[in-house]
Amino acid sequence: MRIAISTGGGDAPGLNAVIRAAVLSAIDRGWHVLGIKRGYAGLLGEEDVVPLTRDSVRGIGHLGGTILHTTNRGNPFSYPVLQPDGSYIEINRSAELVENARNLGIDAIIAIGGDGSLAIAQQMGTVGLRMVGVPKTIDNDVSGTITTFGFDTAVNTAMEAIDKLHTTAESHDRVIVMEVMGRNAGFIALHSGVSGAAHAILIPEIPYDVDVVCRSIMARDARGRHFAIVVVAEGAFERGGSESTLGASLPGQAKRVGGVAERLAQQIQERTGKECRSLVLGHLQRGGMPTGYDRMLATRFGAAAVQAVEDGKWGHMVALQSPDIVTVPIAQVLGHPKRVDPNHDIVRTARRLGISFGDQG
Ligand code: F6P
Repeated sequence: MRIAISTGGGDAPGLNAVIRAAVLSAIDRGWHVLGIKRGYAGLLGEEDVVPLTRDSVRGIGHLGGTILHTTNRGNPFSYPVLQPDGSYIEINRSAELVENARNLGIDAIIAIGGDGSLAIAQQMGTVGLRMVGVPKTIDNDVSGTITTFGFDTAVNTAMEAIDKLHTTAESHDRVIVMEVMGRNAGFIALHSGVSGAAHAILIPEIPYDVDVVCRSIMARDARGRHFAIVVVAEGAFERGGSESTLGASLPGQAKRVGGVAERLAQQIQERTGKECRSLVLGHLQRGGMPTGYDRMLATRFGAAAVQAVEDGKWGHMVALQSPDIVTVPIAQVLGHPKRVDPNHDIVRTARRLGISFGDQG
């Protein structure tokens, strides 16, 4: 048996732990493992395909990033190709990819990625490749699994940032608005905001009203607490409005979500007269060493993916359905991104603690 591993989309802490676990589990079965560099570029002649051995994965389980590198513009079905005039066209290179995979004797591919990469994995199944998926994203927005690795690390990074903002915000009696990642899901904002004791948490699932946010800040002020920390998910938007976007940075990439914190800080300053500052935590949330939780989950996912290959679970992804790791059809999770339930216990708990979601009060 010869399997190949690919990492696609934005990196997430824990990717290397998945690769390590998959390689060691495969070697334990006497299989050979290849690593496809930078998404599928390695199978399109634009990067390498490398053997993955015990030596290749020694000492990588605790490292962030991915030893295979990644890309979010490598969809083989609509691959961006630079034209002589500087423009790009998108072409379908899947046939070439399938042929290269066959020539390398690849029996199955373990695709580690978020919703976009899982959709590509699903499509690759339709052109004859035997695919198993491993869900990955710091956003935690893949359904069918209780959580994804990378999320816990991102939450901890954001929580630590909130801890640090408290002291400076309090010293200056300022309102500090911190924007966190998550695309159209508010999980990172919700979990880090509650754990870090933010005063307002704004998420895409609960559109906010700036006046309500300001009222909660001024009510705090009247109680003698002259500073506030507002955590805003990058995809959050005002009631009746829509998310703020930054456009696509390169051809073949999805539009980028963000910019909400700066605008919100200005609005709060104008309406309350309080001094406001904003920051975008950005890619710090994707970097660094995975937490123990993420290393464990990633390790279980990697081993389970190899088991899924052994069981011929083509078109399935591994998933956490506590306490078990199970497999679910990728087709079942596509088109149903996971979102924060506004009635979830964490939201209700936060409201009881006086945290504003900008929608009531
Ligand atoms: O999906 C993961 C994520 O980090 C999102 O939270 C964020 O919107 C996006 O990727 C950023 O992508 P890029 O690294 O291309 O800027």
